[in-house]
Amino acid sequence: MRVTSTKSLFSSSPPCVVAIVFVALVLSSADLCNGGKTSIYARKPEKTGDMPLHSDVFRVPSGHNAPQQVHITQGDHVGKAVIVSWVTQDEPGSNTVVFWKENSNEKRKTEGEVKTYKFHKYTSGYIHHCIIRNLEYNTKYYYEIGDSDSNRKFWFTTPPPVSPDAPYTFGIIGDLGQTFDSNSTITHYEQNPRKGQTVLYVGDLSYADIYPNHDNVRWDTWGRLIERSVAYQPWIWTAGNHEIDFAPELGETEPFKPYTHRYPVPYLASKSRFTPQYQWLQQELPKVNRRETPWLIVLMHAPWYNSFNYPFMEGETMRVVYEPSFVKYKVDIVFSGHVHAYERSERVSDIASNVVNGIYTTVKDRSAPVYITVGDGGNVDGLASNMIEPQPAHSAYRESSYGHAVLDIKNRTHAYYSWHRNHDGNPVEADTMWFFNRFWHPADESSASQ
Ligand SMILES: *[C@@H]1O[C@H](CO)[C@@H](O)[C@H](O)[C@H]1NC(C)=O
Ligand SMILES: *[C@@H]1O[C@H](CO)[C@@H](O)[C@H](O)[C@H]1NC(C)=O
Ligand SMILES: [Fe+2]
Repeated sequence: MRVTSTKSLFSSSPPCVVAIVFVALVLSSADLCNGGKTSIYARKPEKTGDMPLHSDVFRVPSGHNAPQQVHITQGDHVGKAVIVSWVTQDEPGSNTVVFWKENSNEKRKTEGEVKTYKFHKYTSGYIHHCIIRNLEYNTKYYYEIGDSDSNRKFWFTTPPPVSPDAPYTFGIIGDLGQTFDSNSTITHYEQNPRKGQTVLYVGDLSYADIYPNHDNVRWDTWGRLIERSVAYQPWIWTAGNHEIDFAPELGETEPFKPYTHRYPVPYLASKSRFTPQYQWLQQELPKVNRRETPWLIVLMHAPWYNSFNYPFMEGETMRVVYEPSFVKYKVDIVFSGHVHAYERSERVSDIASNVVNGIYTTVKDRSAPVYITVGDGGNVDGLASNMIEPQPAHSAYRESSYGHAVLDIKNRTHAYYSWHRNHDGNPVEADTMWFFNRFWHPADESSASQ
């Protein structure tokens, strides 16, 4: 798996099956004619709102200064490094990660860095980040952090070596927050029989910013909530609007401060820091060797193709600038969040319009990506339900329910995709599609999709 990223820490080495490109924040054209399927699924009434602070999922691990909010993400381009992060609340404590291969007694150690930050009247705990390198592919590793009286042990498995036919399974989650529904999304992801190996996260993490003074305690509770997944498999981050935390009224003028302090990404691997995003992407897309990593997936927060009325067209200015290169470089899939619902598009493009000329000509385009919105993680803002009627032609399937998706890459030509709604039993697939790779097998998939 080759991951490149536009933001956040650490250097890394240079390329599995997938090149993932992250594009930051930033919907849509309104071609009104016969579209795809609008699900008529109706939800049962449910418990809503953020889980209270005393909830089981927010419990602090026992022991003095025990590491909490443990999370890992990929640490380089090729899948041989992992960044381990955690927080200690009382004192800095140990900054070492001890790690070893399964069935091996040979333990290695790496030292990380520790920092704190302030946000208005809040002071963070000691935030540790430690990159462990030179890992072997396809290998289960155990890792241990913390001081001897309160140390904690976790594990993860590295991806297969770079090869065009290496299989790999991604989970896709977005706009999670920390409500009872968020907890249900995580549980469904964990219990899905189609096991995700890495999560592609499409932005809007904790929603701490909706609290008075952006109460950063809710960043800590979020970190404890997701630990049960992200301590054991990498979550690949994309920033959303709820990560901006720009609050001059509180004296906070450094955008993305809590997010960047807590969730590092291997930006040096793609030389992306301080590079304007557009310029970086124009250099990055041609570098993707599809013979080596056939699948080209883009993550960004706000969708370009969406048929819900709110939020509407927020990514439009970005779309008119970026879309031609997505088509030129045959991006397979674009995953987004932001709109709190689920939607999958047809392969469409709309290259002629430039915002001001009023030419909306969304057409089927075999070189264009499929756009999938998975902003349905379950946050406190609730579901988007106001849909544009009739369903636009670009929209293949849409539904106002919480859930997550899974992309199961089989080989260079085929990937099986499924979307799972929280109200169904774990194995149920509410929307599915066989993806054909745009470089190796650019055939029309519509006969294979539901
Ligand atoms: C969250 O989900 C887990 C796993 O299903 C469950 O054990 C826990 O009690 C749930 N917590 C809340 C507050 O709903
Ligand atoms: C790729 O995977 C698909 C789906 O599992 C399978 O039908 C196809 O035969 C595979 N191709 C190769 C070359 O193995
Ligand atoms: Fe958002």
